[in-house]
Amino acid sequence: MRLSRRTAFEREPNELSVSLARAALAGRELVDLTETNPTRAGLADATLHELLADPRAATYAPEPCGTIDARRAVARYYQARGAVVDEQRIVLSASTSESYSWLFKLLCDPGDAVLVPAPSYPLLPYLAELSSVRLAPYPLVRAEHWRIDLAELERTLDREPRVRAIVLVHPGNPTGSFTRRDEAARLGELCCERALTLVVDEVFADYAHGPLAPDRLPTFASFTGAPCFVMSGLSKVALAPHLKLGWILCADEVSEEARARLELVADSFLSVATPVQVALPDIFERTEGLQARVRARVAENLGALDRALAAVGAACPVRRLAVDGGWYALVEVPRTRSDDAWVLRTIDEASAIVHPGYFFDVAERGTLVVSLLPEPRGFALAVARAVRLWCELPG
Ligand SMILES: Cc1ncc(COP(=O)(O)O)c(C=O)c1O
Repeated sequence: MRLSRRTAFEREPNELSVSLARAALAGRELVDLTETNPTRAGLADATLHELLADPRAATYAPEPCGTIDARRAVARYYQARGAVVDEQRIVLSASTSESYSWLFKLLCDPGDAVLVPAPSYPLLPYLAELSSVRLAPYPLVRAEHWRIDLAELERTLDREPRVRAIVLVHPGNPTGSFTRRDEAARLGELCCERALTLVVDEVFADYAHGPLAPDRLPTFASFTGAPCFVMSGLSKVALAPHLKLGWILCADEVSEEARARLELVADSFLSVATPVQVALPDIFERTEGLQARVRARVAENLGALDRALAAVGAACPVRRLAVDGGWYALVEVPRTRSDDAWVLRTIDEASAIVHPGYFFDVAERGTLVVSLLPEPRGFALAVARAVRLWCELPG
């Protein structure tokens, strides 16, 4: 049987999964500090799925971009964030992952490339490969709070004539950094000069850790500097990855031709289920309370991490990087061993699971990634053990 090259992904279990399987066999209880599934972190609304039982969902009346009522509900979501959005410019999908794949198909021919930030979300290489698109990374400068290295980005554009789009993850995953207004403006200019499109992943945009600094852009929903698609979805906005609904907003400069072609892509799949579309206005009614709980959880866990670091004292060789938002913290540990060795020791000696930075394409060694979503008591105990281990202190 002949199979496509684009699905020939590496599937060998890595050292981390081998070690986790071993710990499970030995019956060890580990605290999972990589948990970001809200339905497992006690943060989702356990009755949300009841909204899917509306009898109106018994009739199938497919609409390529989604029902008008559901799209209006998404438009109101943006209105509440200060962006006036025409519901006709919203296209529903089953998830943000699907939105990426539709936009890659809309913008790229096989072999074309898109620019993506590094560090970034680890699923992007798979989504790109499945659409026969190449990724060209542009660096975020860690020492400057993840400022986009615009000079390097331009050099990559000079080298790569087949780039079609620039992807922004806003705020970044796992960096938690919101794009600066001056960066957005320059990217808009570059897109115009070179006929490129901005593709902005805003799944974490509702999770700023406090008031945003004035130099940061809250959302690209009203962006007018260049053609721009904004993606988000219920998995983060409503803590409901199980409901499978995402959306693409075609911002003002997206042409009617592009919008019509995107509609055709959506029409080829018709992938959004009717019940979730019918329920969407009611789902949005609940998001504020749900998001408030998440923000409180993230603040509490971040506080616990900071207290664990402070408890070690001034000579603590471990440091938490500053974040503007999102669900992750990045921790700098001594570079006395590899990231994998730190992760394996954290499992063995602190009974906690963390991710190595390179999973997210963090260039610098000695970076671990911790989710801020886990249940707080377990989080505080596990993170205190882990911090002592990373500082080479006795547990
Ligand atoms: C930055 C980012 N974008 C997109 C996604 C995928 O979202 P969805 O569940 O809507 O496919 C995730 C999931 O964790 C993510 O972290």
